[in-house]
Amino acid sequence: MTRLPRPLLLLCGLLLSLPLAAQGHALPAHHAKAGLHCFDCHQEEKPTKKAVASESCMTCHGDYPAMKAFTKDAKPNPHDSHLGEIACTECHHQHSKPVVKCLECHEGKFKFNIR
Ligand code: HEC
Ligand code: HEC
Ligand code: HEC
Ligand code: HEC
Repeated sequence: MTRLPRPLLLLCGLLLSLPLAAQGHALPAHHAKAGLHCFDCHQEEKPTKKAVASESCMTCHGDYPAMKAFTKDAKPNPHDSHLGEIACTECHHQHSKPVVKCLECHEGKFKFNIR
């Protein structure tokens, strides 16, 4: 058997020692740094299903009127549009890259800095 370099071996050991549930469900940097737990969004210790209610996000960030005020300088305001109060996670995915749903129809028209 070929021997792996020591740093690689250490890395493998680290990955194996992670709780199984945490693998593949990394969070965006802002939430990882803030130390969020699965339960904060999923309301379950060991989430299995997809749906995360906007209410989970709102507990910490505030509701749509609050978000609208927060991004009042964005043109147009992504939190105040003709789409209404759609789920936060339609844009702010947590285990994959966020998307700006607006651009599905307005491709190249608006510029945002979504996280
Ligand atoms: C337990 C509290 C908590 C929950 C639940 C939570 N967040 Fe956060 N979120 C934070 C904290 C703390 C930060 C980092 C500090 C900050 O930027 O406000 C953050 C940062 C963010 C940022 C980046 C803000 C920036 O200025 O870069 C976005 C976007 C965000 N959260 C969206 C969401 C969405 C969408 C959900 C629901 C899926 C959610 N959050 C659930 C606490 C929470
Ligand atoms: C249609 C897509 C979309 C939806 C739905 C959406 N957002 Fe956002 N959000 C954005 C975009 C785009 C930005 C970045 C705006 C900019 O460029 O300044 C943003 C920014 C943010 C920020 C960071 C603001 C800042 O200035 O740092 C937070 C926090 C946030 N959203 C939370 C939420 C929450 C909570 C919900 C649900 C109540 C939500 N968003 C729903 C698109 C969306
Ligand atoms: C900040 C909120 C947030 C936190 C914290 C969070 N999730 Fe999620 N999770 C989501 C959202 C939103 C989705 C829906 C898919 C997406 O938008 O990325 C999801 C989807 C899932 C799914 C179903 C789809 C899939 O990818 O398999 C599982 C399983 C899951 N999360 C597990 C976890 C585990 C395990 C943790 C803790 C290590 C965790 N989540 C922490 C928001 C969160
Ligand atoms: C399903 C397609 C679709 C989505 C998704 C969508 N729009 Fe629109 N939007 C339209 C259509 C159609 C019009 C009316 C025709 C036009 O002006 O382009 C429009 C018009 C607008 C207008 C007024 C006209 C203009 O171009 O200035 C704004 C502003 C706008 N949308 C912003 C948004 C924002 C912000 C989002 C995301 C939160 C969004 N739209 C998501 C289809 C969409």
